Amino acid sequence: MCGIVGYIGKENATPILIDGLKKLEYRGYDSAGIAILNNGSIDLVKSKGRLSVLEEKLSGVNIGGTIGIGHTRWATHGEPNDVNSHPHMSRNGKFAVVHNGIIENYLQIKEFLIGKGYEFRSETDTEVVAHLIEYHYKGDLKEAVFKTLNEVEGAYALGVLSTDNPDMIVAAKKDSPLVVGLGKDENYIASDIPAILNYTRDILILEDKEVVLLTKDKAEIYNLLGEKQQRKVFHVDWDVSAAEKGGYEHFMIKEIFEEPASVKATLSPRIKDNEIVLDKFTITDEMIKNCEKIHIIACGTAYHAGVVGKYIIEKLARIPVETEVASEFRYRDPIINDKHLTIVLSQSGETIDTLMAMREAKRKGSRTLAIVNVVGSSIAREADDVLYTWAGPEIAVASTKAYNTQLSALYLVALSFGRRKGLLSDEEYNNYLNQLQQVPDMISKVLNEREDIQKFASEHFNARSVFYIGRGLDYALSMEGSLKLKEISYIHSEAYAGGELKHGTIALIEDGTLVICSLTQEQLFEKMIGNIREVKARGAVVMAIAYEKNAAEVAKIADSVITIPDADPTIAPIVAVTPMQLFAYYVSVMKGNDVDKPRNLAKSVTVE
Ligand code: G6P
Repeated sequence: MCGIVGYIGKENATPILIDGLKKLEYRGYDSAGIAILNNGSIDLVKSKGRLSVLEEKLSGVNIGGTIGIGHTRWATHGEPNDVNSHPHMSRNGKFAVVHNGIIENYLQIKEFLIGKGYEFRSETDTEVVAHLIEYHYKGDLKEAVFKTLNEVEGAYALGVLSTDNPDMIVAAKKDSPLVVGLGKDENYIASDIPAILNYTRDILILEDKEVVLLTKDKAEIYNLLGEKQQRKVFHVDWDVSAAEKGGYEHFMIKEIFEEPASVKATLSPRIKDNEIVLDKFTITDEMIKNCEKIHIIACGTAYHAGVVGKYIIEKLARIPVETEVASEFRYRDPIINDKHLTIVLSQSGETIDTLMAMREAKRKGSRTLAIVNVVGSSIAREADDVLYTWAGPEIAVASTKAYNTQLSALYLVALSFGRRKGLLSDEEYNNYLNQLQQVPDMISKVLNEREDIQKFASEHFNARSVFYIGRGLDYALSMEGSLKLKEISYIHSEAYAGGELKHGTIALIEDGTLVICSLTQEQLFEKMIGNIREVKARGAVVMAIAYEKNAAEVAKIADSVITIPDADPTIAPIVAVTPMQLFAYYVSVMKGNDVDKPRNLAKSVTVE
């Protein structure tokens, strides 16, 4: 996803911008560029591809200047190429703009500006902002930016340079994140805090529809009515080194190995004297008793955690749950009222579809509970209650430890609600708590089995198409296993409910088709064995994920069995996802893919 960095101060801006953009690489991007104010004019260098390509271009030119803005672009409007990459310049060359988000009414504005004689170089929505500022500029940059922002619709984080204001960066945001970093005689803007952590830990978080006028010694924040806003400085106390690879070959495998610690960090502080204590929750027992329905909204991996959430909340708290992808939820006029609770799941806390869906739920009167990993993110700030997953920074685009911790948080919610409704006996409750606390050790055991998974991956990384089947919670789990494989191996794969396969999809099973089967749901064990027989009879190669106690029996029919410790079936998905993540990882490595930055994907999707 796009990234923004800006610098104003006394140092050469270029290396600071490049360094900041490198810290944002993990978000995914396809092109990059910088604009530097230098002796009354703007030097622009940009190019398609990785930052190393931009650095090569920069090595041939001599760009000085202590004020600049930089950008990594993840294409939305117009293909990834040099021209479409940011920054974009106004017609007269006086303004340079970087932008994250989407200007929704850009076509109307473009037509209007073309009518006024403006010519467009790129296919982007961003270019209209540069020209519109020029159109409104009558000698006052602040006024021109305000007029522009009052005309654009959609989402934006913006950074603007102007040759007439060589001592200022103007930045603004709405629905896309942007922060200001404060230094001594130098200041910064960034779409993500890690981009500037090498330089400062003092941050001002901009709210929606705010503009900041940034000089090297001042940051003035205004709302769009032109009223000055006060902002407390937020001091960042976490470390950039936590986001480094620490000896592993890829972030993804490092993050898979962090799962036991992440799950523990998410669970332990919330289980005190055998009772679940959920942070500063404001949801009362009365609200839980009267809750008619829960909506779980999320995207991607977080959505798959939400599918598991549906099963477990319905089972343990007996409240009907509907889990839906955020981009669908938002536009279907969902039936919601103030007796409903909306649970929003997001690793980044910035996914625009999820944020907007949450706002829609709020608008209709629902309480909102966010399960989020990034502290202070937009979703966390706007939800009524927040339960943080303490997974630590997740850098690999393919989400792993975030999923295990999202499930951990959902179990805490389901158990707490069930308990508070008086549905769980002491024995059941204690048993679940006990099982949950064993999850970190269980995942560690699975990690010790990684060589079996690696071997199986080395034999099957050339597969053309893979099916994941399971029943009940295993079906929910299969969805995540299948997504992981698609994301990083580029192998087509599908998740299917074991019992549904015979109603059509089994036609695709032929000699050698790889089928990954999960068998953690005891009451459905025999049924799943039946489904495995069906695919084996048609030539499938089967890898099964089964409990240690069932391994011998499953081995009679499957080609390979990966075992997990004998967990309670309700808890099993948090443990059983790990072999699936490892399988996807090893297949991707064997294929020589860019594991941490798979093609076409972005870590944090802040456009619709
Ligand atoms: C992107 C990522 C996925 C992620 C999804 C939701 O599509 O590539 O890995 O699951 O966004 O992200 P979130 O930060 O809201 O959990």
